[in-house]
Amino acid sequence: MKLEEVRAAEARLLLSTYDRSPIFFIGGEGVDLIDEKGERYLDLLSGIGVNALGCGHPAIVDTIARQSRALIHISNLYYHEGQAELALRLTERTGLDRVFFCNSGTEAWEGALKLARAHAGLRRSEGAKIGTRFLALEQSFHGRTLGSVSTTFKEKYREPFGPVVPGVEFVRFNDTEDLRAKFSDDVCAILVEAIQGEGGVRPLTQEFFAEARALASSTGALLIVDEIQAGMGRTGRWCAYQHYGIQPDVTTLAKPLAGGLPLGAVLCTEEVARVMHAGMHGTTFGGGPLACAVAVAVIDTIEKEGLLAHVTEVGDYFQQQLRELAARHDAILDVRGKGLMVAAELDSAELAKAAVGEMLKRHILINCTSETVLRFLPAYILERKHVDTAIVALDEIFTEHAAYATAHSQKGDAHG
Ligand SMILES: Cc1ncc(COP(=O)(O)O)c(C=O)c1O
Repeated sequence: MKLEEVRAAEARLLLSTYDRSPIFFIGGEGVDLIDEKGERYLDLLSGIGVNALGCGHPAIVDTIARQSRALIHISNLYYHEGQAELALRLTERTGLDRVFFCNSGTEAWEGALKLARAHAGLRRSEGAKIGTRFLALEQSFHGRTLGSVSTTFKEKYREPFGPVVPGVEFVRFNDTEDLRAKFSDDVCAILVEAIQGEGGVRPLTQEFFAEARALASSTGALLIVDEIQAGMGRTGRWCAYQHYGIQPDVTTLAKPLAGGLPLGAVLCTEEVARVMHAGMHGTTFGGGPLACAVAVAVIDTIEKEGLLAHVTEVGDYFQQQLRELAARHDAILDVRGKGLMVAAELDSAELAKAAVGEMLKRHILINCTSETVLRFLPAYILERKHVDTAIVALDEIFTEHAAYATAHSQKGDAHG
């Protein structure tokens, strides 16, 4: 099928959940994607933070070939070596004790919410005073299934599916006073992203994060950190919370975990893990041999190729270049992020949308989140030369925009 045929068929056959750009990709190599005409695009989004090693990395391709010949799926009724191998690596790198494997970010988050409710229930049965409420943050994003969407801030994601799960209250982002005011022994968990992704690449302040940790510890509520977007090396550490020196009770991973195959994980402390018994929670596909083998290969490759240090180095360079751009263009209000989770906040939603389209015309993929924020989530193998290409393109786009705005305001002046 050609692009137009695919578009027509999808328009007729699929639920209209996505507003796709009219490009038809058939391949990829490193940080490039290749469309059906053979044209290359510099991918600064990596499938929304998934393809950490880019496209076609031999470690992933070879592992898929080898493991798919051996075993793709067996269910969770039997043993294979993948979950243990991966759990060993993940517990070592996150500082947590136990893992549950699932298939996606939202499923990991559902698992975390269920752990919090079950843990509170267990504590109550032991005589503790602890409720069932969740405190989530404004601008949070935790996924689209009913529990996840109930803890996701944006009304437009929740409202059509109401009533959503009750017992969730939103705290103003980084507002420690508001957190203190809303916290009580009614709360079973405080839910945060160390760096909000969809919410506009916004890091928690040290003060707010530390207060969340202290409050949760004061009653035995859980501090649950969603690392689905920021985790697995994206910020130059295995988890973004490690930049703060704060240890959660539960964390969730997904996106880059298996280098492009669907895999999610919930990790928790031994104290939290004691609530789970056989049959309480589960999944058919989660933690299958293929996805686990690839995830092991991704972690080993990140370490063998020194990619955490590389992410930090190229990410710092990216932010520095964006800051230089911001000094030349008033339209850029802020540059922020950590490692290769980078954002430039613009002064208008219209410009942000136009900039994504203009970048696409120049064969560079980025996206816009939180209306005004250009977001860059490239593969960890990105190099400085790719950053330079993006900066030249953005410079051109903002220069054209400024010239257009000036010409229009002069025309406006002339017409009185
Ligand atoms: C922080 C965070 N949590 C949860 C999710 C949901 O993950 P998934 O789309 O794999 O369900 C996302 C996805 O963007 C995310 O960024």
